Amino acid sequence: MHRLLSALLVATAVAVAPASPALALDDGLARTPPMGFNDWNAFGCDVTEDLIKQTADLFITEGLRDAGYTYLNIDDCWSLKDRDSAGRLVPDPVKFPSGIAGTAAYVHSKGLKLGIYSDAGTNTCAGYPGSLGRETLDAQTFADWGVDYLKYDNCYNQSDGSQADYIRRYTAMRDALAATGRPIVLSICEWGSSQPWTWGADVGHLWRTTGDISDNWPSLKSIIAANAPLAEFAGPGHWNDPDMLEIGNGGMTATEYRTHMSMWAMMAAPLIIGTDLRSASAETLGILTNREIIGIDQDRLGVAGRVVSDANGLMVLDKPLAGGEHAIALYNSTDVLATIGTPVSRPHRLTDVWTGAVTQARSRIEAAVPAHGTVVYKVKPIRDTGPIAPAVTVGGAIETVTPAAGTPLATTVTNRGVGSLADVRVTVAGPAGWTVTANTTARDRSLGSDESLVTTWTVTAPATVTAGSYPLTLSTAYTWGGRHRSSSASTLVAAVVTPPAGGSRHLSTVRAADFTGSIALDQTVAGNLITIGDHVYTRGIGTTPPTSIRYYVGGECSSLTTDVGGSGFTVYADDTVAASSTAAQSLTADLTGAAWLRLTTTGTGPADWAEPVLTCGEPGPVQPAERTLFSFEGGTDGFGIANAGGGGSVEPATAFHTDGTAGLLVHTPVNGNWFGKALDAPLDLTGFSHLKFDMRVETAGSVGEIAVQVGDAFTWCQGGQWTWTNPGGSRTVSRSFGDISCPAGVTLDPADIRAVWVFLNTGGDVSIDNIRAE
Ligand code: GLA
Repeated sequence: MHRLLSALLVATAVAVAPASPALALDDGLARTPPMGFNDWNAFGCDVTEDLIKQTADLFITEGLRDAGYTYLNIDDCWSLKDRDSAGRLVPDPVKFPSGIAGTAAYVHSKGLKLGIYSDAGTNTCAGYPGSLGRETLDAQTFADWGVDYLKYDNCYNQSDGSQADYIRRYTAMRDALAATGRPIVLSICEWGSSQPWTWGADVGHLWRTTGDISDNWPSLKSIIAANAPLAEFAGPGHWNDPDMLEIGNGGMTATEYRTHMSMWAMMAAPLIIGTDLRSASAETLGILTNREIIGIDQDRLGVAGRVVSDANGLMVLDKPLAGGEHAIALYNSTDVLATIGTPVSRPHRLTDVWTGAVTQARSRIEAAVPAHGTVVYKVKPIRDTGPIAPAVTVGGAIETVTPAAGTPLATTVTNRGVGSLADVRVTVAGPAGWTVTANTTARDRSLGSDESLVTTWTVTAPATVTAGSYPLTLSTAYTWGGRHRSSSASTLVAAVVTPPAGGSRHLSTVRAADFTGSIALDQTVAGNLITIGDHVYTRGIGTTPPTSIRYYVGGECSSLTTDVGGSGFTVYADDTVAASSTAAQSLTADLTGAAWLRLTTTGTGPADWAEPVLTCGEPGPVQPAERTLFSFEGGTDGFGIANAGGGGSVEPATAFHTDGTAGLLVHTPVNGNWFGKALDAPLDLTGFSHLKFDMRVETAGSVGEIAVQVGDAFTWCQGGQWTWTNPGGSRTVSRSFGDISCPAGVTLDPADIRAVWVFLNTGGDVSIDNIRAE
């Protein structure tokens, strides 16, 4: 009955499909960006009914439902690997004892909604059944279960890569959902591959614009850079999705998590919590439930913040709000304190959304924003600034600090308010044991509107200081309105560098004091392994010229050796050229007595430092130490297929290798298989923390994972999944033992490893080499 009925409805839906591609999916759903929870970021494949129910309970007890969070979304790994005899998806009865229907009923009883996950391919990314070609049945199954939201992924997509194919696969699910008659939000998850912002409004309610987020600053920064310029494509019922929130997962600072929340709100992004709410801190919950920020995200005008300016890592976004106010974000993606602003033609009242502070500004909305921070103001023009305090910014910049040497610091206090300040004083406080002295005046009797007081200082850290980041507090106190005494402060972070310890080490593992231009560690700027001729290097520094990188060596280092691929590479010992290149060659630079090592690249095209090694004090084996487990020099090293029936084959090959002259070529089956080797004797990797290997993949969308078997029972531990988005690209995969999770009751004992396996799929060719421990 159901199948026939939906087939008829699909035919109708196709017949009346809008001719104009500009028409949005106007079905009343997702008029503001969806808010909820998804298990993937915090739990990966470990989703259960219990987790969803407990999270639903917490939505109520922690005030998340009241704050607007509605959807409890189940991600990958919820089903069995096989469909039932009628072809229907089957929830894993161990993970979901009352099924998806029972879970949905519970969630609905709390006034919340349930989301599920499938894939516009033959399998989901984790290898469970996908919905390609089964759209009608699966959509009806989801509707029958009471599902309200579908995240629809893109692995195993069998695609020819054309945009038309993407539109066809996602439209098939749109129509199948529509045919069920149940309102279901469709979340398109194809990682921005086919520019879904140009077609997604007709097809789904939101579309991912980027690859997967991870819980670290470089990931957050790159996603903001990619998503913010797409503002014009978002609106009620059709949103850009820069992926789910990582707030609370521990890989970023509170400042970075506030930037995450602030920028998602400014970009009118879905707010899908991705942390374990059962153990979330008060700080995490405070960020997630900030009413002002949520109000900006959920504003009913539904306009995503426009990029007003974006230069040197400083971005200003402007989001008009329904009540006539605007939200202005001042986002600092750089690693230092920065004063960011945008001009206005008349005085404005500013409310800092995170602190609640209210100030007024005459001609410029501005703030001193900490590294990786974002200030969000709600602003509106005012006639009379009356008793509102002026906006006063305290900026500053300091050079890299070395032990016991005077380092210059400059502070700038600016009065952005209407009216003058009187008796302005500036102070700088450093950590205990540091000295800070003013070289120029730190006082001003009067500071007019839009005037600045610049003071220079000398900062000295003790001789015994250790390398790291140290806060300096820049403060100002002033009188405004003739009688109110107020103050403002900023935190400036000083980077202290000390010479590297004795021995030889890969320069990519040494912290640079500073750099200019585009650089990447242990890969090219484009994200591949560094290659010169047919030599593929796993260590080095990729650059796009012009670049300059400085290291403090403090007179303690003797030499730098490196390979380079052409001309335009120069190594400086202080201001002296210690080595430079005219062709592909190996360079050795004498650094004796130098305080600073500087590497520059000039010219055009990628210019990569291949395996630079710095020697300080006594030379020794190059750190960090690695132990090679399989190098494929003598053939396949016994590597084979774990599941004989799953297909695939391996052969020795010389086309791709990162050590010696040979690697391994793997012909993968479409649905994947594990490749590797059971060991003759247990392997002892005590003292190592990572498994690494180098690979090149020809097909985008391929996914992989590492597994090791431990103990006499050869128990599988697996994890560290990746998705390959760079066809023909190469890289080093590195996974810590902590990324590899074992079944309950089993621990990954590094001293007792019985087999090492790698999961590979897509039906394409994958090259691997040099499986090792670090
Ligand atoms: C893809 C998606 C992720 C997540 C995983 C699940 O990588 O982009 O958000 O759903 O699949 O396997």
